[in-house]
Amino acid sequence: VPPIKVALLGCGTVGGEVVRLLTEQADELAARVGAPIELAGIAVRRPDKHPELPQELLTADAAELIDSDIDVVVELIGGIEPVRSWLLSALQKGKSVVTANKALLAEYSGELAEAADASGADLYFEAAVAGAIPLLRPLRESMAGDRITRVMGIVNGTTNYILSAMDSTGAGYAETLDEASRLGYAEADPTADVDGYDAASKAAILASLAFHTRVTAADVYREGIGGVSASDIVAARVLGRTVKLLSICERVIDENGAESVSARVHPVMIPRSHQLAGVNGAFNAVYVEADAAGELMFYGQGAGGAPTASAVLGDLVAVARNRVVGGRGPRESAHAALPVSPMGRT
Ligand code: NDP
Ligand code: HSE
Repeated sequence: VPPIKVALLGCGTVGGEVVRLLTEQADELAARVGAPIELAGIAVRRPDKHPELPQELLTADAAELIDSDIDVVVELIGGIEPVRSWLLSALQKGKSVVTANKALLAEYSGELAEAADASGADLYFEAAVAGAIPLLRPLRESMAGDRITRVMGIVNGTTNYILSAMDSTGAGYAETLDEASRLGYAEADPTADVDGYDAASKAAILASLAFHTRVTAADVYREGIGGVSASDIVAARVLGRTVKLLSICERVIDENGAESVSARVHPVMIPRSHQLAGVNGAFNAVYVEADAAGELMFYGQGAGGAPTASAVLGDLVAVARNRVVGGRGPRESAHAALPVSPMGRT
């Protein structure tokens, strides 16, 4: 069986761990997929800054790498352009895409899904929400037969790391944010974390999948943790509570019985006895409520190189297997037009 040829775009915190795992587990992955996974090229911004990588694979020209003889693009750069154009071009040419780029998906998942469905390529993005936690595949596949009513939880590791430290040690906001960046949890621009943009992008992705509609980041009401002070944390403690940044996505039914979707992100004072109060550091936890399944809880490492690479590799194995057996992942361009409630709009 010929190898599945992979182009890796971006080799920083997450991409570096993907290369490590792909290299260390090459034989096991080949056995699982039914064909070897061959890393055909790695695009980075500054190839001269990567002496640790195989030099013959490195390029600064991502567009040329995508156009070469490859089967799958793994995108770990981040941001909207030029990545959106590159991934659209790859999908239009029938190349499958694995991405962790929540900012892009929260704006353009519709366009990308349509391109994938038109060419028969796969678009997988498990790592875009909640790091290592298998959450999107359960929503897209395992729970596709149920009617989900609510998805709620902690989906940003950086802010949870900061709030946990402020609560447990009284550490300062700025020093804890620096630590989160050093540990590889924060976005390239950490205001995306602290101002709630990252959690809002993730809420848009979760609401779109859970409610089979199209929700963008602009539809999500958003407040970050910038307004949470040390005295707020102390006041919460006196009340037997702690502060968490929650993403809450719900089906809403108005007085006329009309259904819509609401999505919001904001800090919440929760009782210390609540399960989410015990989710600390860069861990994430998400509750899903559905008519038949009842309540489910997903918990694990929500940020960082290796945990995120685990989800990326899982997607890569899935799309590579699909290539080998001629299958496809779920189609997403067709969806119900459930309106977004004004409650959830900024
Ligand atoms: P990094 O900033 O660590 O790495 C980004 C990589 O992209 C670098 O290798 C950089 O090259 C490369 N790059 C930037 N611009 C270009 C370009 N124009 N052409 C080619 N390569 C380019 O980011 P992360 O690994 O932390 O994140 C990557 C993605 O994963 C983002 O979408 C992020 O939101 C997402 N993500 C991150 C998580 C985390 O915990 N870190 C968790 C979940 C998702 P160079 O090395 O030369 O600078
Ligand atoms: N910056 C993100 C976070 C990375 O802290 O959750 C994981 O998506």
